[in-house]
Amino acid sequence: MRIILLGAPGAGKGTQAQFLMNKYGIPQISTGDMLRAAIKEGTELGLEAKKVMDAGQLVSDDLIIGLVKERISKADCENGFLLDGFPRTIPQADAMKENGVAVDYCLEFDVPDEVIVNRMSGRRVHPSSGRVYHLVYNPPKVEGKDNETGDDLVIRPDDEVETVRKRLGVYHEQTQPLVAYYKAEADAGNTKFATIDGTQDVDAVSAELANILG
Ligand code: AP5
Repeated sequence: MRIILLGAPGAGKGTQAQFLMNKYGIPQISTGDMLRAAIKEGTELGLEAKKVMDAGQLVSDDLIIGLVKERISKADCENGFLLDGFPRTIPQADAMKENGVAVDYCLEFDVPDEVIVNRMSGRRVHPSSGRVYHLVYNPPKVEGKDNETGDDLVIRPDDEVETVRKRLGVYHEQTQPLVAYYKAEADAGNTKFATIDGTQDVDAVSAELANILG
């Protein structure tokens, strides 16, 4: 099963990726997490990506396409994968198609901008696992600690209100056109497309996804 999770920053892609990974046993490929890992390791790629990410802009298509190509060639992707944060531009989607990577489902999370700005202020993350929490809507069992490891949770540097608004602008300009792109792919019988109301609570969104995917 190959799935694309499409939606604005903070729409809930990472949260639901954890649910889908556990339910279907396929790996989550989060380009954001991969870039943050590179930043932490201090690699050349990380240094280049950090400036762009802190500014709320997108990393270059060539760089991201190379990263994803390498990742999906790994053995754990043989039975499928979950793309979280990729593709994010038309050239990225075209690159997948040109490389013969077919997609079974494209799932769009629909959440208004103002709900997102509110959500991001309460987000806390566990960087090494990708687990995501919210102070109010999805709190950890122990305040400030990851449920499974007990590690400290952190605030992402790009979650400042001003940066979130910039990221939303970039989403509407460069990523939202992919909704029409994948609807057209679905009409041509190349994939299945569904829009999910991402303003429902976390469990209701998970239930809707399970219903769509079976
Ligand atoms: P990335 O890490 O992919 O960030 P994003 O797409 O902006 O998405 P987020 O991780 O911010 O949000 P999410 O939808 O996963 O929401 P979450 O589940 O955390 O990318 C970061 C940067 O990397 C980009 O800006 C760019 O620079 C670069 N990059 C990455 N991929 C790239 C690419 N392909 N091309 C170019 N550049 C790229 O939820 C958010 C909060 O809401 C959490 O606190 C959560 O607990 C809460 N929440 C979730 N669901 C609900 C719900 N139903 N109700 C209430 N609260 C909820």
